[in-house]
Amino acid sequence: MDKILNWGLLSTAKINRALIKPLRASKRTRLLAVASRSISTAESYAREWNIPRAHGSYEALLADPEIDVIYNSLPNHLHAEWTIKALRAGKHVLCEKPFALTLAEVDAMSQAARETGKVLAEAFMYRHHAQTLKVKEIVDSGILGKLQLIKGAFTFTLTREGDIRSKKETGGGSIWDVGCYPISYTRMIVGADPLEVFGWQLTGAGGVDESFIGQMKFSNEIHSQFDSGLRSPSRSMIEIVGTDASLMIPNPFKPGKSSEIYLSRNDEQEKIKIKGTELYLGEVEDMCDAVTQNKSPRISLEDSRKNIATILALIESAQIGKPVTLAHN
Ligand SMILES: NC(=O)c1ccc[n+]([C@@H]2O[C@H](COP(=O)([O-])OP(=O)(O)OC[C@H]3O[C@@H](n4cnc5c(N)ncnc54)[C@H](OP(=O)(O)O)[C@@H]3O)[C@@H](O)[C@H]2O)c1
Repeated sequence: MDKILNWGLLSTAKINRALIKPLRASKRTRLLAVASRSISTAESYAREWNIPRAHGSYEALLADPEIDVIYNSLPNHLHAEWTIKALRAGKHVLCEKPFALTLAEVDAMSQAARETGKVLAEAFMYRHHAQTLKVKEIVDSGILGKLQLIKGAFTFTLTREGDIRSKKETGGGSIWDVGCYPISYTRMIVGADPLEVFGWQLTGAGGVDESFIGQMKFSNEIHSQFDSGLRSPSRSMIEIVGTDASLMIPNPFKPGKSSEIYLSRNDEQEKIKIKGTELYLGEVEDMCDAVTQNKSPRISLEDSRKNIATILALIESAQIGKPVTLAHN
């Protein structure tokens, strides 16, 4: 029987709601505490969600000796700072996407994980879902033929005034918030990183990209196109095109307990049904495996670093109006 891990929520972020159910559903986790910058917010949140302990500062949560794992759901600009503090306080950390905003931050986070021997992983929930694993299996089976093109999109309409996504100082922008998904998905499918990228962006009043359109060129003549947006209708998709067949994934990033993908070949379309689990349970179980069974997290720190490197190159390209070659290849 694995040890039961005590989890603490670092902030009262909206995304916490997605984790609370799986943290209760898993037999290996206990949601023990929540922290907020204000004790009254922490206490009312703890009452609302039936969480045993409320801490009135992030420092107090990190100092709680009974907490094993911190879920870092802070705004993007605070991911690195508080992940490093949590690791140095002896906690394992599941950190929300995007992992960080610079490669220097990623490297400092990885160094802290290495030096403390604690587990650190990025919370890209879709990567653990049965649909994603099935898509990868289909691509790797060779049934699509030689990979040619991957298209992706993730857009929605931001309605909350003053949201962290609309401000530069909190790491806002559509590519950081949702563009990171098709970029991550494409890199996973290709199993490599782009050699060169090109991007355009539409900048909003907050100084962040409200729409981003990107292209990525991989080796072996594989290309990709994606768009992300904060001021568009709700859209998400991935299409994978090979020389022999194509695969359409209408709901790639937030699949549910049952989902469907479509394989098209020889002018016929086959519907493939997939039975999945609750979307956010996978990252919780993956973290438990890593902490208690010494397994490597499914998303490695190197993978997270390469995703951030790709995003940064796309942003640079949009700024200078020219393609950017990626240094890590
Ligand atoms: N994986 C997913 O499906 C998914 C979905 C949504 C969001 N996310 C990620 O989760 C993170 C949080 O997103 P969210 O929309 O849940 O955020 P949010 O509701 O705006 O909450 C962020 C929390 O951070 C704390 N905070 C500390 N300093 C802050 C500052 N300067 N400005 C604003 N808040 C501050 C606040 O908590 P206290 O007041 O309690 O201290 C606040 O409630 C982001 O990194 C985002 O990319 C992931």
